[in-house]
Amino acid sequence: MMVNMTSTVPFGVYLHWPFCLSKCPYCDFNSHVRHGGIDEARFVRGFETELATTAKRIGARTVSSVFFGGGTPSLMQPASVQTILDAIARHWSVAPDAEVTLEANPTSVEATRFRGFRAAGVNRVSLGVQALDDAALKELGRLHSVQEALDAVAVARSIFQRYSFDLIYARPRQTLDAWAAELKRAIAEAAEHLSLYQLTIELDTPFAGLHAAGKLTVPDDDLARDLYDLTQAICAEAGLPAYEISNHARPGAECRHNLIYWRGHEYAGIGPGAHGRLNIGDRRVATETEKRPESWLMRVEATGSGLTVDDKLTPGETADEFLLMGLRLAEGIEPARYRALCGREIDPKRVAVLHAEGAVETTADGRLRVTQSGFPLLDAVVADLAA
Ligand SMILES: C[S@@+](CC[C@H](N)C(=O)[O-])C[C@H]1O[C@@H](n2cnc3c(N)ncnc32)[C@H](O)[C@@H]1O
Ligand code: SF4
Repeated sequence: MMVNMTSTVPFGVYLHWPFCLSKCPYCDFNSHVRHGGIDEARFVRGFETELATTAKRIGARTVSSVFFGGGTPSLMQPASVQTILDAIARHWSVAPDAEVTLEANPTSVEATRFRGFRAAGVNRVSLGVQALDDAALKELGRLHSVQEALDAVAVARSIFQRYSFDLIYARPRQTLDAWAAELKRAIAEAAEHLSLYQLTIELDTPFAGLHAAGKLTVPDDDLARDLYDLTQAICAEAGLPAYEISNHARPGAECRHNLIYWRGHEYAGIGPGAHGRLNIGDRRVATETEKRPESWLMRVEATGSGLTVDDKLTPGETADEFLLMGLRLAEGIEPARYRALCGREIDPKRVAVLHAEGAVETTADGRLRVTQSGFPLLDAVVADLAA
C-alpha cells in the first residue's frame, strides 16, 4: 500500500539550502554563491510557505527523518533551522526518535554554530571533509585545511552523538598506498558512518574543462576499481561495511533519511531544486522545484510552491525507480515488492544471465542483490534489469 498514515511507515523531509561561500570546481549540485549576501529571513519564510502547501496537499504524516542538504546548510543561522523545524512540527507529527541531519562544511566558522544547531533539534551532522591531504584540498578548491576539518570533526563529536563525514577518492595522482593511509586515518576519526565517493567528472564543471584539456587526469578504470576494492576491504575490516555503494556504517548506524530514498519510501522535497516523491492516493508523484534560488522564492511567494515538476509516475516507472535505488543497497530488493508495484516479475531471463555472470545473487530469504564484484558495474546491471 502506498498510503502512509502510520508512524511505522518512514516519511522524510528534505530541505535544500542552495548557498555556498564558493563553488568547488568538481561540484554540480544546485549551489550558488551570493557575494552580496542573501535575505535569509525571506528564504526561511519561503521554506515555511512551501512546507505548509505540501502538508495541505498530502495530509497527516509522521516524520521519521529531516535532512538539511545543500549547498551549505551550515551557513544558516541556528534560529533559521529552528524556525523550519518548528514549521515541520506544526504540520505533521514528528516521531520521538526522528533523525535530523544537517550537512556542514568543516570550517571553524560553521563549527561555532554546531551547539546552536543541536539546540534547534539537529541530532546528526554530515561534514564534507573531502580529503585528509592539504594539497588535495587545495586542488579541490576547498576553503578549509586538514587541521581545520579535523577540528570541526572534534567539535561535532563533542556535541552530536551521531556524525558522519564525506571523503572523495580516486583523485588525480592518488595511489593505492596513499589512499589506504588516508582512509585509515579517517576511520580513526569516524564514529559510526562514512560516505566515500569516487571523484566524478561532472559535465559543465571547471573540472570537466580541465579534464577535456588534458590538465586533470583521474585514475583509469583499473586503478579506480582497485581503489574501490581497497576501500571495501579496509572499511569492512574496521567494522564499517558498505550498506550502499558509497556509504559505510556500523550496523544500525545507517543514515535513516537516505535509506528512505533507496528503499523507495516517501519524502517531501522543499527548497530550490529539491526533489520529492509523494504518495498521493494510490499514485507515486515525482516533484521537483525551480533551481534558481531567487526564482524559486518568487514562485513560492506568488503561488505557495516552487514546483516545476509534479508528475504521476506510472507503475512501470515506479517499479524501475525502485530497482534503480534499491540495488544500490547491500541488502538489495524484495522481488515481491517490484511485482506488487508493476504487476510483473523482473525479467527472469535477464536475472539468470546476471546470476551466471556473478553480478547479482539471491539471498536465502529471496532478496535480489548486486554482488561485491557486480557493484562497480551497478549502472550496467540496473540498465539491464529495468524495463
Ligand atoms: C551536497 S555535497 C556537499 C556538502 C557540503 N556543501 C560540502 O561540500 O561539504 C555532498 C557531497 O557530495 C560529494 N561530491 C560532490 N561533488 C562530487 C563529485 N564531483 N565527485 C564525487 N563526490 C562529489 C562531496 O563529498 C560532498 O561532500
Ligand atoms: S561541494 Fe559543497 S561547498 Fe562545494 S560547491 Fe558543492 S555544495 Fe558547495
